[in-house]
Amino acid sequence: MSLLELDDVSVTYRIASGEVPAVRGVSLSLDAGAALGVAGESGSGKSTLAMALLRLLPKEARVGGRILLDGDDVLTMKWGRMRAVRWAEASIVFQGAQHGLNPVRKIGDQIAEPLLTHNLAKPDEARRRVTELLEQVGLPAWRARSYPHELSGGQRQRVMIAMALACSPRLIIADEPTTALDVMVQAQVLSLIKELVAEHGISLIMISHDLSVLADVCDQLAVMYAGRLVEHGPSREVFREARHPYSKALAAAFPTVGDPGSRMAPKGLGGDPPDPMQLPGGCSFHPRCPVAVDGCSTLDVQLWPAGPGRTAACVHARAEEEVS
Ligand SMILES: Nc1ncnc2c1ncn2[C@@H]1O[C@H](COP(=O)(O)OP(=O)(O)OP(=O)(O)O)[C@@H](O)[C@H]1O
Ligand code: SF4
Ligand SMILES: [Mg+2]
Repeated sequence: MSLLELDDVSVTYRIASGEVPAVRGVSLSLDAGAALGVAGESGSGKSTLAMALLRLLPKEARVGGRILLDGDDVLTMKWGRMRAVRWAEASIVFQGAQHGLNPVRKIGDQIAEPLLTHNLAKPDEARRRVTELLEQVGLPAWRARSYPHELSGGQRQRVMIAMALACSPRLIIADEPTTALDVMVQAQVLSLIKELVAEHGISLIMISHDLSVLADVCDQLAVMYAGRLVEHGPSREVFREARHPYSKALAAAFPTVGDPGSRMAPKGLGGDPPDPMQLPGGCSFHPRCPVAVDGCSTLDVQLWPAGPGRTAACVHARAEEEVS
């Protein structure tokens, strides 16, 4: 059985001016110990999807579908069980979370907090665990006595990873864990995450704009556009030979892992991502698609088979599959 299974998950934010369909019908699964990358431009629904997994969305969000963690539906779980899941089974490293560290509390106390609040360790055990966690993320034990402002951005991000590891979760969701860091530090933090998840058999969902980063760290890749999955498959294949024109543009935009020059909108792809409140009909990508054909604006697009273990939501991928 998969560790995590998403079945037709949708998230709609209800705001004063109407409804924002941020995630639309996403189905995915993740095996224990596997790493899944989720890519897509700003606003494609990546963080919304990540937060839905642990029911961390604001109350204006309405979530549909099923999210099964070890067979238990997260969406209908009692709050007590949900709280336990958030610490002990799955934890999340948020986008820009390093800035969310409490500035007036020592690093060691912040890492120990979940262990103590959830009665997972006595104070002296928690101290030992903090030392162990700091070592795992490549920081010396004495850093436990430092305050966040005494650390660099990369070191703070390592602290966030130590916090995510504290309760030995089975799943870590890392939402843009390295975006705010410079290239060298980005590479170090990424290889740290890669090593830790492999060593401890932790499953990983990593979110990024940068397909090259995800292809390097993850086994599987899911590409989102306007709240939908548009491509899914083994990460290196999706990165090297994308089947959906949008994934192709993303792959071309980030040729090298963490290249700062390529942290921008996909090269060669005109236009902006659509406003979710005014989504184009048919294939949502058609107004920007360089290979759109007649019918794309009305097509009922679906994730069609696109090679072994692969799917893509494009008529061309479907046609190639039918020919082969
Ligand atoms: N609380 C909210 N209320 C209304 N709309 C929201 C809310 N949060 C997010 N959205 C909208 O939902 C859509 C998806 O946002 P989300 O933050 O999930 O995107 P993202 O892919 O994580 O983008 P980024 O790469 O910039 O982090 C966007 O159109 C965004 O404006
Ligand atoms: S279905 Fe049409 S518009 Fe959509 S990605 Fe494929 S060719 Fe482009
Ligand atoms: Mg986000």
